[in-house]
Amino acid sequence: MTTVGAAALLTPAVAAAAATADGPTFVYDLAQLDAHAGVIRSALPTGTQLLYAVKANPDPRLLAVLDRHVDGWEIASRGELAHLRRHVPDRPAYFAGPGKTDAELTAALTAGVTLHVESARELRRIAALAGPDSGPRAGASRAAVLLRVNLPVPTDLPAVLAMGGRPSPFGMDPAEADICGRALAAGALPGIEFRGIHAHLASGLDADDCAGLADLTLHWAVAFGRRHRLPIAEIDVGGGMAVDYRRPADRFDWAGYGERLGRGIRAAGTDAVIRIEPGRSVTAYSGWYATRVVDLKRSHGRWFALVAGGTHHLRTPVAKGHDQPFVVLGNRSVLGNRSGADRPTASGPVTVVGQLCTPKDILASEVPVERIGVGDVVVFALAGAYGFTISHHDFLMHPRPAVRYVG
Ligand SMILES: Cc1ncc(COP(=O)(O)O)c(C=O)c1O
Repeated sequence: MTTVGAAALLTPAVAAAAATADGPTFVYDLAQLDAHAGVIRSALPTGTQLLYAVKANPDPRLLAVLDRHVDGWEIASRGELAHLRRHVPDRPAYFAGPGKTDAELTAALTAGVTLHVESARELRRIAALAGPDSGPRAGASRAAVLLRVNLPVPTDLPAVLAMGGRPSPFGMDPAEADICGRALAAGALPGIEFRGIHAHLASGLDADDCAGLADLTLHWAVAFGRRHRLPIAEIDVGGGMAVDYRRPADRFDWAGYGERLGRGIRAAGTDAVIRIEPGRSVTAYSGWYATRVVDLKRSHGRWFALVAGGTHHLRTPVAKGHDQPFVVLGNRSVLGNRSGADRPTASGPVTVVGQLCTPKDILASEVPVERIGVGDVVVFALAGAYGFTISHHDFLMHPRPAVRYVG
C-alpha cells in the first residue's frame, strides 16, 4: 500500500510543519537533501562531476544546499541562468534544450556558459554569434560546446520518459553529429571551442540501465573523437536516474551505478572529464506537499477526498501517470482532537482530488486508506522534484502554495 511506504519516510519535523501549515504548503527537508546529495557525491567515481538539473526544482534554499555538493548546474533557459547567477553564482552552468533563441544563446555566451548543442543549425548559429570576427561577441573568446547526440538505444529499455533512441526534438542523430564533426575538424567554425559529447537519452532508469546508457555514450564519444581526430575533453552522460513513486522508500542504487560507471569509463579508455546531470533523483525525496481535506463524498460507489490545492501545485502525478504516495495525518497527537462524531470519514479505496474543475485533477486514485476525514492533513511524499514549477499555477487563479523549510 503506497501510504505505508510514504509514512515510513515522514520525519517528525516534516509532520509538524505539515500539520501546522495554513493552506497548501510545500515542506522541504534541507537536512535530508544535504545527506542525500552527500550519498550521491560519494558514490561517484573519483573525478566524475555532478551537475544538478535545475529544472527539477530551482528553489533557492535547495540550490544553496546542493551548492555544497555539485560541480555545476544543468540549465535549459535564460531564466534559470539568471536565477543561478542571483542565488548560487559560483559554479559553472551547462545549457541544453532545443530551440534556443539568439537572445538566450547570447546571454549564455556572455555569461561564459558551456552550450549543449542540439542541432547542426544551432551550432552554426552559435558560431556566428560567438565571433571571433562577427556577431555581438566579436573579439570575445570562443563558445565552449558539447554536441548533444541522440544515440540508438536498446529498444526494450523500460524508460519512463525517452528523449533519445527514437525520433525526438532532443539532440542530433549520429549522422548529423558527424556533419558537425567534419566541420569542426576542418576548422570551418572558428567561433567554436569543441569540448565533447553530451547525451541525456531517457529518464526513469534503474542503475543498470542508466549505467548501460552511460557505457553507450562513452564508447560513442570516444569513437567520434577518433573518427574526426577531435580531442574529447568532456563527456556528459546525462541524468534520468529513477524515482519509484510506487515504492517511496526505495532508492536508486547510487553505489551500484557509481561502480558500473567507473568500470565503463575505464573500459572506454577515455581521460575526458565525465559528468552526470540528475534532477528528479536528487530533490524528489526532500519535498512534501501538505494540504487538508475540505470535503469527502461518495460518488457512484466511490469515495473522493477533496483537498485544498491540487495538481496546479503538484502536477507530478498527472505528468507521470502515477498515484502520488501520501500519508493521512488524522492523528490526535498531531492535530488535536479532530475526530468528533460529526466529522465525516471514509476508509478503504479513496481517490484524492484537488479543487480544479477538471476530472484530471487527481493526485492519487483508489488508494486504500485506514481512515480519512474532513479536516485531516494529507501529506504527499516525493514532491521535491518537478512539483510546483511544472504545474499550471494560474488555472482557476487559486492562491499559490506556501513554502516551509525544516532541517
Ligand atoms: C538535458 C537534461 N538533463 C537532465 C535532465 C534531468 O533528468 P532527471 O530529472 O530525470 O534526472 C533532464 C530532464 O528533462 C534534461 O532534459
